[in-house]
Amino acid sequence: MGSLRAFIYLGVCVCAGILTAADENTKAGNVHWTSLDFKTMLIWTTKSPQQTYSVKFRQGENGNSEPHNECFKVPGTECDMTHELAASDRSYIADVETDHDEEGDYDYSHEEFEHTESKPFNPYKESNISAVEFTVEALNASTIIVNVTDTLTSVHRGTKQLNIRDVFRKDLQYKISYHKSGNSRKRDHISDGSVALVPQLDAGQSYCFMVAAFIPSRPQSSQLGAWSQQLCEQTHPEGTNEMSVGHLVGIIFIVLLAIIIIITVTCVCCKKNQQRNKPLQTAQSSALV
Ligand SMILES: *[C@@H]1O[C@H](CO)[C@@H](O)[C@H](O)[C@H]1NC(C)=O
Ligand SMILES: *[C@@H]1O[C@H](CO)[C@@H](O)[C@H](O)[C@H]1NC(C)=O
Ligand SMILES: *[C@@H]1O[C@H](CO)[C@@H](O)[C@H](O)[C@H]1NC(C)=O
Repeated sequence: MGSLRAFIYLGVCVCAGILTAADENTKAGNVHWTSLDFKTMLIWTTKSPQQTYSVKFRQGENGNSEPHNECFKVPGTECDMTHELAASDRSYIADVETDHDEEGDYDYSHEEFEHTESKPFNPYKESNISAVEFTVEALNASTIIVNVTDTLTSVHRGTKQLNIRDVFRKDLQYKISYHKSGNSRKRDHISDGSVALVPQLDAGQSYCFMVAAFIPSRPQSSQLGAWSQQLCEQTHPEGTNEMSVGHLVGIIFIVLLAIIIIITVTCVCCKKNQQRNKPLQTAQSSALV
């Protein structure tokens, strides 16, 4: 009887040992977030490739935990959280649970080994912003216009795909870094809007520009988006500042008017001269006869 008890006891110990070992192999490891332009993925690692996982998430430390409908008993080690998280200033915590086939045999006392929680993640504060597209155009001898296209995000409102201006509104600025061609000294210009006038440039000089989204309300480490490619543009030469299209049209008009007047006056004079010469010619020819 005693030996049977010892045998059962040993068996339980071995089983528990196997379960614990299994936990360590099937438990999701290194659960972390990656996010670019509000496309947000939850990523983890596993030592058992066959294992499936289910993801739950909640808003803040004490929010109600909700299951992720698509990431339910999925193989693989990632879950797209883009549509689960609001692009407003809130933190989320996700929990990756290891699935078990034999529900009946499952020892619930080991439950704490069977899931791994993420760190809190706030997409509004932490989602990376990719490099923006922009154009440059000289306005006059001292000003160049930088026109930035607000990058599209993965956030939708109804059928509309929101861009970073729709999401961040007044919180979004652009940092424009520029330098004169052949001069490495860089200057910064911060713009509230997506169209920026960069002033106080030298006339007839080439300048090169790079732009990045800039969100000063964020923590320092995530304030700046990726830098764009570089574009260069030349300011207008000195003295052409007042040469607007209106002025140009005016000058052409005056020149044309002058030409017309000269032609008209010349013609009128010619005709008068001819008429004055005619009777004279007649008189001369009759005298000859
Ligand atoms: C944002 O980009 C940095 C640099 O590439 C990276 O270290 C960080 O993990 C990224 N953050 C997210 C939330 O993807
Ligand atoms: C900026 O570019 C957009 C198209 O990308 C254009 O519609 C808009 O007129 C431009 N604005 C300026 C001030 O050049
Ligand atoms: C160029 O245009 C800007 C913006 O309209 C204006 O403030 C600036 O005085 C102009 N500069 C010159 C030299 O005309």
